[in-house]
Amino acid sequence: MTQQAAGIAPHGGQLINRIATPDQRQEFLAMADSLQRVQMDVRTTSDLVMIAIGGFSPLNGFLEREDYESVVSSMYLSNGLPWSIPITLSVSEEVAEPLREGTLIRLDDPNGRFVGVLELTHKYTYDKVKEAVNVYRTDDEKHPGVKVVYQQGNINLAGSVWLLERDAHPLFPAYQVDPAVSRQMFQEKGWKTVVGFQTRNPIHRAHEYIIKCAMETVDGLFLHPLVGATKEDDIAADVRMRCYEIMLEHYFPNDRVILAINPAAMRYAGPREAIFHALVRKNYGCTHFIVGRDHAGVGDYYGTYDAQYIFNEFDPQALGILPMKFEHAFYCKRTQAMATTKTSPSKPEERIHLSGTKVREMLRQGELPPPEFSRPLVAAELARAMQISG
Ligand code: ADX
Repeated sequence: MTQQAAGIAPHGGQLINRIATPDQRQEFLAMADSLQRVQMDVRTTSDLVMIAIGGFSPLNGFLEREDYESVVSSMYLSNGLPWSIPITLSVSEEVAEPLREGTLIRLDDPNGRFVGVLELTHKYTYDKVKEAVNVYRTDDEKHPGVKVVYQQGNINLAGSVWLLERDAHPLFPAYQVDPAVSRQMFQEKGWKTVVGFQTRNPIHRAHEYIIKCAMETVDGLFLHPLVGATKEDDIAADVRMRCYEIMLEHYFPNDRVILAINPAAMRYAGPREAIFHALVRKNYGCTHFIVGRDHAGVGDYYGTYDAQYIFNEFDPQALGILPMKFEHAFYCKRTQAMATTKTSPSKPEERIHLSGTKVREMLRQGELPPPEFSRPLVAAELARAMQISG
């Protein structure tokens, strides 16, 4: 697709496309053996893909030092656009040392496959603790996002990139929808307002409730689970996808939902990641974005609504996508429905609180989540998957 679909503008105004054309690809492949080489990990490889397909617009590569420092300290790129998560290609001193600035670098995926090219503008050192404290609000190495920062190399490689190779997703090729395509799909459906939903957990009834509340006021739902790298105890993406399919088949009006995968890695950066998640969905064409309780949080590093408050720190025009904020939803025994304190007069003991963490714990102990937690067909799918994997 060459033409940009109309609708909400991508972040920065232009949908970035850094997928090498067939001619560029041939040229790069011909240089394969002469280029200096860097091997990326899973997360960086998914960042490369996200940059190339425009999911991280306006980024066209890994952050330059000026942008990196500005993002870490102030949540803005040096051109003044909001951007809350540093996207870096971090390597060890040994790997960085022989690389020459001003040259093209071959980027290999974790399997050693030549998948991308970096036009290396410069290499720079950075302060890991500052990144941890500013981005993750903690320097605790037990935080899964901080752990990645501490374990990665000390040198960032900056420059624009091209993506050469990307296979169809082995499990969900049909749901591999790039931003240019989702924009086109929204257009074809005539959706003027689209709410994006980020999730990394098997869908439960609180998710369903907040999604449906949002759907009451917009034209369509972009159900966009993250399937990139997550922490080890999160439920595998294929299991989660089957749960979403079950929900769409039985409990949602299919024509008002587009299910697609988000190939990005999870950072667990709570508030900052909520901004980032919203900007990414803006690039996919969403006008609205759901932010519930402890969005993108982990453990108790963030306050329940910190990921909502952070939106108040930005000019809504500069963000260009509207957050739809939801209170902690629960099953209310008094009204026998999902609710929040905004809609139910129940006492705390009349509420069944749900969370992905709780469902994971129950499943690990061999218990099925009750119908107030998960729809029975979803619970059955989870139980089946846990038995297979366990
Ligand atoms: S996340 O890390 O992707 O945020 P999860 O898949 O659990 O994790 O959450 C997806 C979205 O649903 C987030 O916006 C989160 O805040 C919201 N959410 C999850 N559980 C609840 C709940 N019980 N009440 C309100 N919002 C919730």
